[in-house]
Amino acid sequence: MATSYKTAIVTGGGSGIGAATAMLLAQENWRVMVADIDEAGGQNIVDTIRNMGGIADFMATNVMHEDSVSALVEATLEKFGRLDAAVNSAGVGQRGQSIWELDADAWDHCQEINLRGMFLCIKHQSAAMVGQGDGAIVAISSAAATKGLINSSDYCAAKAGVTGLVRGAAVDCAPHNIRVNALLPGGTNTPLAERSSASTPGLAGTLRVPMNRMATPHEIAATATWLVSDAASYITGASIAVDGGMAIA
Ligand SMILES: NC(=O)c1ccc[n+]([C@@H]2O[C@H](COP(=O)([O-])OP(=O)(O)OC[C@H]3O[C@@H](n4cnc5c(N)ncnc54)[C@H](O)[C@@H]3O)[C@@H](O)[C@H]2O)c1
Repeated sequence: MATSYKTAIVTGGGSGIGAATAMLLAQENWRVMVADIDEAGGQNIVDTIRNMGGIADFMATNVMHEDSVSALVEATLEKFGRLDAAVNSAGVGQRGQSIWELDADAWDHCQEINLRGMFLCIKHQSAAMVGQGDGAIVAISSAAATKGLINSSDYCAAKAGVTGLVRGAAVDCAPHNIRVNALLPGGTNTPLAERSSASTPGLAGTLRVPMNRMATPHEIAATATWLVSDAASYITGASIAVDGGMAIA
């Protein structure tokens, strides 16, 4: 039987959770457009996928800029003909300052990438999907959407914003058979997590994780891949925690 391919965009696909998701989708016979501001990182993941026999391409993308995000969607449609799913993982961590020290420019930077960038991605991805009459979008939020993290009010606000954005988008998209969900990872072994614990005094040790370990990027990718699959066909507007029990501790 011939393999049938669906197409997905993965933003932040050059590292960490996005890279693991791009590779897992490719293994499950998705054609993947890897999008990242880091061209070397993104191209490296595309090369890895191709070496595994998968289908992928890279598009340099800055989610802060609307013309860059719309060009990503255009390029995906041009290259692969349609857009079935998107996993939006591009993001940055917190500045690591208390609320009374937090620089307003650092606040803006965090919101511009993590929240406004997510809005731009969902806006242009859903516009392409409305024309097709189906699709699925996953927004990578964070356990920080529901927990107070020390010296992280910029990040907590942006990630909580993403869950509200997803609920609003899901209602708009539902009549068009497009599902939009938020995935809330707990601490996950990636370069971002390493940078966050180095930059944020007190972060390690303030959160209780019943499973007592960090996630692997693959564990988050597995849920993202499931959420865009037909196995999750009745799930929309949800905030799905993948956090070793952090949210209930
Ligand atoms: N690692 C964790 O512990 C953790 C926990 C919860 C949520 N998250 C979220 O998961 C997502 C992925 O994080 P990660 O841990 O894999 O980090 P990572 O740093 O390994 O990967 C993030 C990727 O996003 C890209 N990126 C950053 N700014 C961009 C921009 N403006 N435009 C396009 N790409 C951009 C980076 O180049 C990088 O490749 C983020 O949204 C992060 O907030 C991570």
